[in-house]
Amino acid sequence: MIPTEVLKEQAALAALKFVKNGDTIGLGTGSTVKYAIDGLGNNLKNGTLSDIKAISTSLSSEARAKDNKIPTTSFDETVKLDVYIDGADEVDQALRLIKGGGGALLREKIVAQNSALKIIIVDASKLSERVGEKWHLPVEVFPLALGAELNFLKSLDAVARVRTDDKGEPFITDNGNFIIDANFGRIHKARKMAKMLDARAGIAGHGLFIDLCDILIVAYPNGVMHIRKGEKETFKNLLDSVSPAQTF
Ligand code: 5RP
Repeated sequence: MIPTEVLKEQAALAALKFVKNGDTIGLGTGSTVKYAIDGLGNNLKNGTLSDIKAISTSLSSEARAKDNKIPTTSFDETVKLDVYIDGADEVDQALRLIKGGGGALLREKIVAQNSALKIIIVDASKLSERVGEKWHLPVEVFPLALGAELNFLKSLDAVARVRTDDKGEPFITDNGNFIIDANFGRIHKARKMAKMLDARAGIAGHGLFIDLCDILIVAYPNGVMHIRKGEKETFKNLLDSVSPAQTF
């Protein structure tokens, strides 16, 4: 069995071929994308890549980009990024995503929405038929609204709780907000759900990413596969071929 870490690295490195000299890049957050950040750094160092600039979606990715000597840019000087590379917690056959396991969902969505090519890199354990099956939905909430939005999510029949850190304290995002992890089970009407959450003033952002993945790169025990939007059959075949014993 191939360790998950190896699969994560394979998916991340496969994304690098979509990055060209001179590109501006959105760097996601998490244990998969860190391999892509290191890979970009290596390519800069060995001269196979030049002139790139990046916007990071978290303080941790920013620090990793800095360690790799990747120059930074901002939306003040770069209106549209060329490529966004990020992981995901769950991906379904319509390439809808749940993100925010690392708490960076708001910045990730801002960067994704402002990138021309959106690449999501995962190991096969992240695939599911429908989002919500395997992962709760992270919802970032302004401090003032915490109680109200917790109540709102419960009224939608979610099992919802405030995320805590290792010390049992409320987890605070890079934006100074809280996260509520809301377990809805399978989300059947993802677009409707996203609209409902978008309409709440107390919700700063949520981890439902719809139409924000152009290419899904999946590393699985027999190789690495690229899946584009609409390739539902390919997705389904891959999902069927990866038994739970192989992915967890
Ligand atoms: C962070 C994210 C990550 O992309 C997601 O949690 C996947 O992380 P990992 O690659 O560590 O499994 O959304 O907010």
